[in-house]
Amino acid sequence: MSRPTKKATPVLLIDDDEDDYLLTREYFEDFERPRRYELQWASTYDEGLQLLQQADHDLCLLDYRLGARDGVELLQQALDAECSTPIIMLTGSGNRAVDNAAMRHGAADYLVKEEITPVLLERSIRHSLERHRILEKQRTLAAENERLYRKAKRALDMRDEIHRIVAHDLRGPLSTMGLALQLMERLASKGADGDAFANQLETQRLCISQMNRLIQDLLDAARIDDGRLSLDRTAYQPVHIVESVLDQHRIRAEDRSIELVANISDELPHIDADARRIEQVFSNLIGNALKFTPEGGTIEITARTEEDAVCFLVEDNGRGIPEELQPHLFDRFWQAEQGDLDGAGLGLAICKGILDAHGGRIWAESTEGEGTTFFFTVPTVSD
Ligand SMILES: Nc1ncnc2c1ncn2[C@@H]1O[C@H](COP(=O)(O)OP(=O)(O)OP(=O)(O)O)[C@@H](O)[C@H]1O
Ligand SMILES: [Mg+2]
Repeated sequence: MSRPTKKATPVLLIDDDEDDYLLTREYFEDFERPRRYELQWASTYDEGLQLLQQADHDLCLLDYRLGARDGVELLQQALDAECSTPIIMLTGSGNRAVDNAAMRHGAADYLVKEEITPVLLERSIRHSLERHRILEKQRTLAAENERLYRKAKRALDMRDEIHRIVAHDLRGPLSTMGLALQLMERLASKGADGDAFANQLETQRLCISQMNRLIQDLLDAARIDDGRLSLDRTAYQPVHIVESVLDQHRIRAEDRSIELVANISDELPHIDADARRIEQVFSNLIGNALKFTPEGGTIEITARTEEDAVCFLVEDNGRGIPEELQPHLFDRFWQAEQGDLDGAGLGLAICKGILDAHGGRIWAESTEGEGTTFFFTVPTVSD
């Protein structure tokens, strides 16, 4: 059975002297097999740099003298352009300063032309290629280590935040429930009737739903982190989703004398969405707008058709977000002000995770003291 033939290793020679090119080609023909090389010649500085940047070669032989410019300058430009091809510098006569400069600019080796023999050249190429391979492997390992480190750090940060939330945000409603229970015991010992318990029961119901939401949010954040957020997508008419979310927030808006209006056409294209998850996005955005808009304010929900998507807008005329803080809006556990009005700072990070999973986008525009508009897009059903 014949072995598959190995591909030749592409080598680039940058040298403005044709005789030197012909000599190098002869050396290449003298090389011992089995490794085969394919030599390409660039006769000018610019052509050489352009070919190097295309990164089609495994190695480059670079002459120091290139007309008015020199090889060290080219090495520097290749380095700036993040070109990773190993480069062996060739010079006419031994010069320690050029040798050092070449080394400092990342040359893989340095050879004096008049000392070159086919054996020496072949060995230098082979060693440079091998060192480069090891270096690339180390780079890949370092990048992988960095990735794992970041992942571990995120997991540790998440754990710390969960501790903080359990200690703070869950303890609050739990102690309220404890107090409500004590009160109910006292009422019971005095023989109070059913109506007297109603308030305490309502308090406990609210505490349970608050704790439940927090736990769900923590689970969602963990799912998004692990890429485990699964979507149950169907074609939806956007207006139906918005109506259902508005119903859930109307009472709270009325309580705070905030006008909650929606202007959504029922002729928008259908979106390809997990309706429950898009409702969750709306709920957090409207919930935020309600938290950060003073009494008498307005929250308006609109939508417009874009190419392949519907873009939704949730606009309030509340306190706004200082410009320098806006880049953090979608960070997990981030709040503009410490302990911002009962929340964990998870809502917007979850919204982003949900929209990423849909192939949509979310962003905000805000002016401090004037209000905030959140925009998000959801892809439409393709025909
Ligand atoms: N409409 C808004 N107006 C002003 N600030 C806002 C608005 N929406 C969000 N923010 C700021 O962004 C922060 C993060 O919002 P996010 O929804 O992620 O968390 P949260 O509402 O504080 O808590 P959670 O949503 O987890 O209950 C808020 O705490 C607030 O500081
Ligand atoms: Mg929120």
